[in-house]
This record gives sequence, structure tokens and C-alpha cells, in this order.
Amino acid sequence: MDTVLEVKDLTKRYRRRRAEPVMAIDRVSFAVRKNEVVGLLGPNGAGKTTTIKCIAGLIKANSGEIWLDGIEAQRQPKRAMERVAALLEGNRNIYWRLTPRENLEFFAGIQGHMVGKVKRYIDELIELFDLKDKEHTSARMLSRGMQQKLALACALVRQTEVLLLDEPTLGLDVETSYELRHALKQMAARGERTILLSSHDMHVVEDICERVVIINNGRVVVDDRVSNLIKLFRASAYRFELEGRLVEQLELKLKERFPLLALSATDHRTYIDADLKDGSELYEVLDLLKAGGTQIKSIGHKEPDLEEIFLAIVRGQLE
Ligand SMILES: Nc1ncnc2c1ncn2[C@@H]1O[C@H](COP(=O)(O)OP(=O)(O)OP(=O)(O)O)[C@@H](O)[C@H]1O
Ligand SMILES: [Mg+2]
Repeated sequence: MDTVLEVKDLTKRYRRRRAEPVMAIDRVSFAVRKNEVVGLLGPNGAGKTTTIKCIAGLIKANSGEIWLDGIEAQRQPKRAMERVAALLEGNRNIYWRLTPRENLEFFAGIQGHMVGKVKRYIDELIELFDLKDKEHTSARMLSRGMQQKLALACALVRQTEVLLLDEPTLGLDVETSYELRHALKQMAARGERTILLSSHDMHVVEDICERVVIINNGRVVVDDRVSNLIKLFRASAYRFELEGRLVEQLELKLKERFPLLALSATDHRTYIDADLKDGSELYEVLDLLKAGGTQIKSIGHKEPDLEEIFLAIVRGQLE
């Protein structure tokens, strides 16, 4: 298999002064194939940044292996590090006194690319990240969002085998975040980059990643294709369309029995979205509705989105 990144049983405990060590990641294993874009998801403190920092060689794992393009990173760190570029959480790792173009030339240069050879790619990145107007302004004068885009472009220009992105859209305004997402999507669609990306923004993940690895409390809980997860959850996500409005008593009963159920209404219709585990739960809802004298117009499967799936998994609903 053409795996370019693989972590095996990666474990990291942070030591603390006068306190028990924190088990940040506990035997995390997953693999990323060449040109695959994989999302690393998990709630705050799950261990995403720790995983990425270990792979990027910024912190040392307590145990486990990290394979980058056939090289064990902890045994041959220098050779392995030539194969990764990382953009870390909130870190705009660029040279403030250099212009965007100079930054890009610099980062291409340290990777050993001749400036003449990467000029076209640099032009492309400047275009892609909409930095043309600021091409000759020093980086410290750029807005935060532009600096973030430049930092990402600098990671890209190195053209390493693997690209690690930790929360690349964090703290950006809606438009900049959209632009960055668009740029990443284009990169991903060209299928020429292997990317591991962490994000809390499910739109980013759903847009860019084919596969997701979900970690919770330092452990991998899901490793699957996004399309498979959506298929899996579609089977349990129901939408009921009802005639008229629900009486309050029925609404309370439903919510008491199914706390996660969502109700919405227009003038003449009520919609119930519910995640039902099996047939018996479906019948329970039907019974409640019938007992409340409600007329059901239709029952259908709802198209779940990654956000709902993620929450359901993290809340431990999926057995
Ligand atoms: N330098 C550190 N010293 C001690 N504990 C740490 C350190 N860095 C992280 N941790 C702990 O390790 C665990 C994993 O943290 P990590 O930053 O990897 O999570 P994350 O998934 O990136 O979270 P977020 O979504 O908030 O960025 C947390 O419990 C965190 O408190
Ligand atoms: Mg983090």
C-alpha cells in the first residue's frame, strides 16, 4: 500500500510539576495514503495538536512509531523532517520583515528548491491566496488573516511529501476562512498533496477531507470515510412531517423521552428530526404521536451532516 504517513501506538504523557502526568494521547494508530486528505477531529483536549506536534518532530512521544515515507521519524529525525511541513495552531511562522514573495522564496529555498524552478508555483500560490496586492509589503504589515494565509502558503511551497495543518482556519473571519477553505479544496482536488488536517469547523472537514480520524480522550474512536459515516448515520436519522402544530403536552412528552430530538414548525406543519437507534424507538415515537392525536404526513430519512455525526460519536451514542 502506498502509505506515506503512519503512526503506530503513539503515546504521549505530559509531565507536570506537582501533579500527575497528563495522558494526552494513548496508543494512537492510523495511516494516511499518498495524496489522501484526512481530517483529525476531536473535542478540545482530545489530543489532536499533540499528535500533530509528535509527527512534526516538535515534541517527543513516550512510545510508538511514526513512519514518514518509509522512514522511522524518531530514529532518523533529520531525514524524516525533510518530508513534512506543518502549520500549527495559531502559529504564523513567517518572517515579519520579508514580503510574502520573499517569504515564499525563502521557504522554497530551505527545502532545496531553486527559486527559478518554483517561480511559477509561487505565482500560483500568491494568486490562490489572494495576496497579489500585498506581494511587496512586509509581512508584519499584513492583517492576521493574510498572515495566516501566507503561513499556509509557506508550508505548501516547500512541497513536502506530507502537510500537517492544525486548525488552519482558526480565528479567521468568515470570508478569509472561506477563501482558505477554497484554496485547500483546490489543492485537495488536484490530488497532489497528502494532508492531515485538524479542525473544529466541520464545513472545512466535510469540504476537504475524504476520510476522518476521530479521537476522544487521547484514543482513536473512528477511522472511516466521510461518505461511509454519512451513510451509516442516514439509517438512523429520521424526519417526521406532521399536520399542524403539536400540543404542548405532547411536545414535552417527546422531549422527555428523546432529549436530543429537534422540533421545528411552520404555520401549518411541524417537523421532528430524531436519531432513532432501532425499530422499537421508531414505534415509540409513532405511538406518542398517535396518542397525542397528531396526523403524520410523511416519515423520511434525513441527510445527516458531519457536525451531527461528530457530536453523536463523541457523546458515545454510536455503539
Ligand atoms: N504542554 C502541556 N503540558 C501539559 N499538558 C498538556 C500540554 N499540552 C497539552 N496538554 C494536555 O494534553 C491533552 C491534549 O491536548 P491537545 O492540545 O493535544 O488537544 P487538542 O485536541 O489539540 O485540543 P484543542 O481542540 O483544544 O486544540 C489535554 O488534556 C491538554 O490539557
Ligand atoms: Mg489543538
